[in-house]
Amino acid sequence: MNAHTKNDRVAWLQDPAAKCSSVPADGKNPWRLVLLGAPGVGKGTQAELLTERLRACHLSTGDVFRAASKRTDSEQSPALNASLEYMRRGELVPDSTVWEMVRERSGCLLHCGGFILDGFPRTLSQAESLKALMENDQLSLSAVVNYELPVEDIVRRLSGRRTCEQCKSVFHVSERPPKINGICDRCGGRLYQREDDQPESISVRLQVYERSTAPLVQFYGNLGLLTPIVAKGSPAEILERTMEQLRARPQLP
Ligand code: AP5
Repeated sequence: MNAHTKNDRVAWLQDPAAKCSSVPADGKNPWRLVLLGAPGVGKGTQAELLTERLRACHLSTGDVFRAASKRTDSEQSPALNASLEYMRRGELVPDSTVWEMVRERSGCLLHCGGFILDGFPRTLSQAESLKALMENDQLSLSAVVNYELPVEDIVRRLSGRRTCEQCKSVFHVSERPPKINGICDRCGGRLYQREDDQPESISVRLQVYERSTAPLVQFYGNLGLLTPIVAKGSPAEILERTMEQLRARPQLP
């Protein structure tokens, strides 16, 4: 994948039958990573940087739901409408809906170029489903990166976040500002503030994370996959910290 041409990820974001603009090359040891961590810790930011470095596709379940929300009303199913309501409130979308959506896109997960999963799995049930899907194809995860950051830093990151409407690139009003205010550096798209970055939703999301997603730390720890990373510092520093830890893992290229 050309680092300057962002893959449109159309098969993941819109239609599993569609062909993406550029897909990672078949590698000997493709990276299959899960990024864990509280909302706003910087998973999406690191996923973008890791994608350029590792040539694996960035697959975010939140991005799929947000892309679907932009479709016309007639294309939106009752299950999708219900999912968008959960998102607005900061709650998790039910496992059955999430798994149906991910299963339809299993081609992206089983692709020979690998993946960087961001926002999935988020419950033990989702983690078990992912494990079974991969084992069925004799595949396994390379590692699970767990980003850690104090809650006050998380709230600051979420309240200043701006996202590109078109390519989904992530910015921050003070920490990672775009060159032109309100405009995406990569594609010229409009930047907007996510509905779930309002204070009430942020607080619900942090509670839901502790209840439903934090137990995955132990789940992946027991499988010997967990790689904890301190998410303080600049995105570039965190990327280097992540790469260092990944390189230190025995089974990786
Ligand atoms: P999702 O889209 O997955 O959101 P999230 O997990 O809440 O994570 P965020 O995208 O909010 O944060 P992030 O960690 O990616 O941080 P970012 O890099 O943007 O999910 C949204 C909703 O969808 C869920 O609440 C749920 O309803 C539903 N959903 C999705 N998947 C689901 C699933 N599997 N099951 C059930 N429901 C599901 O960074 C944040 C900000 O900080 C940015 O402004 C960024 O520029 C800035 N920043 C990043 N790094 C740094 C740094 N090092 N220094 C300073 N600023 C930084």
